[in-house]
Amino acid sequence: MPFTIAIDGPAASGKGTIARALAQGFSFHHLDTGLLYRAVGAKGGDPVRAARELTPADLERPDLRSNETGQAASRVAAIAEVRQALVEFQRSFAMKEPGAVLDGRDIGTVICPGAQLKLYVIASDQVRARRRAAEIDADEAETLAALRERDARDMARATAPLRAADDAVVLDTTYMSISEAVSRAIAEVEARYPAR
Ligand code: DC
Repeated sequence: MPFTIAIDGPAASGKGTIARALAQGFSFHHLDTGLLYRAVGAKGGDPVRAARELTPADLERPDLRSNETGQAASRVAAIAEVRQALVEFQRSFAMKEPGAVLDGRDIGTVICPGAQLKLYVIASDQVRARRRAAEIDADEAETLAALRERDARDMARATAPLRAADDAVVLDTTYMSISEAVSRAIAEVEARYPAR
């Protein structure tokens, strides 16, 4: 059985950074599932069709990180058929040996409910906006508004809304450095995946 780490949380909470660090530290595969929804949103046209026909090249567009694409992603992500079209790819990714880290919004609740470790990563709105604005070189106030709008939509949608799984470990990174957040996450993995 591969080891699965599910990491969920709102936009720019630090989950991507933690996911990459865990994947590198434990030699696990990593899937940023937000990229799938961003690619669908960026493609335009019928989003259900875009999700069904998604190719690896779609995931390499340079404009996937922008606030605009984040909004488009959040909108298409509310469509049940879009989510359904992406389930199988994500679940089979999670079966890779020796393990995989998937980060997103519904990994612990819907995609990998049996994950050995579920992390729910949060941080204050202001801290998340500051981090994301610096990362993509965007205006902070604009980024804050965009994050709030996106989180509200992601939490309110009927299908697979953003929420912590009942058995998730909540990690609040508001006052943590990257290395502190990563160390905490590593400790949670080591408590469950000791033999290497
Ligand atoms: O993680 P991100 O900011 O790149 O995600 C972009 C949008 O995609 C997010 O606002 C909601 C959607 N998303 C989702 O609905 N489910 C996921 N597992 C990942 C992302």
